[in-house]
Amino acid sequence: QTGAFTFDPGYTSTASCESKITYIDGDEGVLLYRGYPIDQLAEHSNFIEVAYLLLNGELPTKDEKTRFDHSITMHTMVHEQLKNFYNGFRRDAHPMAIMVGVVGALSAFYHDSTDITDPKQRLVASHRMIAKMPTIAAMAYKYSIGQAFVFPRNDLDYTSNFMRMCFAVQAEEFEVNPVLSSALDKIFILHMDHEQNASTSTVRLAGSSGANPFACIAAGIASLWGPAHGGANEAALNMLEEIGDVERIPEFIKRAKDKNDPFRLMGFGHRVYKNYDPRAKVMRKACHEVLDALGVRNEPLLQVAMELERIALEDEYFVEKKLYPNIDFYSGITLRALGFPTDMFTVLFALARTVGWIAQWSEMIEDPNQKIGRPRQIYTGAPARNYTAIDQR
Ligand code: SDX
Repeated sequence: QTGAFTFDPGYTSTASCESKITYIDGDEGVLLYRGYPIDQLAEHSNFIEVAYLLLNGELPTKDEKTRFDHSITMHTMVHEQLKNFYNGFRRDAHPMAIMVGVVGALSAFYHDSTDITDPKQRLVASHRMIAKMPTIAAMAYKYSIGQAFVFPRNDLDYTSNFMRMCFAVQAEEFEVNPVLSSALDKIFILHMDHEQNASTSTVRLAGSSGANPFACIAAGIASLWGPAHGGANEAALNMLEEIGDVERIPEFIKRAKDKNDPFRLMGFGHRVYKNYDPRAKVMRKACHEVLDALGVRNEPLLQVAMELERIALEDEYFVEKKLYPNIDFYSGITLRALGFPTDMFTVLFALARTVGWIAQWSEMIEDPNQKIGRPRQIYTGAPARNYTAIDQR
């Protein structure tokens, strides 16, 4: 899987940009972060190290990793006044609505890192964004369940800190289960970047106008929210619950193949992968690890998911359309087992994808030939014509 790649000319002719960050071979089911296969990084690395790799292009030395980790840790707190934004939302607001609003507001608090022409300010903004996403996400969760916010701690790793901010309560101490935080860390690595997907392209287009990085990330969060994109993990779990039992799988397979039925198998298919999404394989393994650690391996929805996958992979329609499970197919079951409600699943996706959004935004801003994005169109409207007064229409 390593070595020189030859791009498919057809693909490059529609390419929106050049990038050194992530490589996908959709036909072969290959995903590389800065040349490293995703399954190796998920197996052997961790969030902070992979974040450093995506931002800087190389795996860090021990000293580089320590300094990067310290910088991120020092930015995990948020301005005390930022809390006021949460109180403006109804308690039943979707956490993604809160994320779009609060992240968009960050530029109003951190004026010293919004000048994108200053490399130092860009670096601080990048570290601030990656560091504060878990705190903001955990606060969105706590707000939605009516519990007090929990502050970040400097003695916990990135993912354990996030889990504690979500699940600790003042009444008693919270011990993070290392097996579970390691599985979530792996899940974050899988979600960090994915080339020019809809939300990353949104961040790039917003950033190409010179908008500040916090506003660009808020635009990415808004795009990721859609059920065809980042919202698919929540939609996939809801679908598995609607199916409910392996006996009902054929009924849903039939619906997925019916062109007159808008139903799609959530967590299946991909615009680029026409083979198995390499992340889905790692996701399925992480799912089993979490359910085993929690002693719920016989979780009914896992049986439904595995049987649905088995049937779909043998079905000639799905084989012909090259539809395979994608990253979202097993993530919902896993995230719910970890204790997160379904409306937090896309928030976790956004938390991890912030690393890729920031890496791609930085790459674009640092490109000396970068210009404002201006997609063109094919005009199919009315031919030129003259105005007519209203009494002649
Ligand atoms: C993510 O871009 C990225 O990289 C995204 C992402 C990332 O990391 O950023 O990977 C994250 O968004 C993963 C995808 C999550 N979405 C879902 O799981 C929702 C369910 N999937 C479908 O909505 C769909 O597969 C899409 C939106 C993901 C892709 O749709 P496309 O571009 O139409 O796929 P396609 O052109 O390859 O479809 C081929 C055919 C089509 O039928 P025909 O027009 O040829 O008759 O297969 C059909 C599609 O209608 N099809 C499906 C299907 N997905 C595609 N039929 C049933 N069930 C499905 N899930």
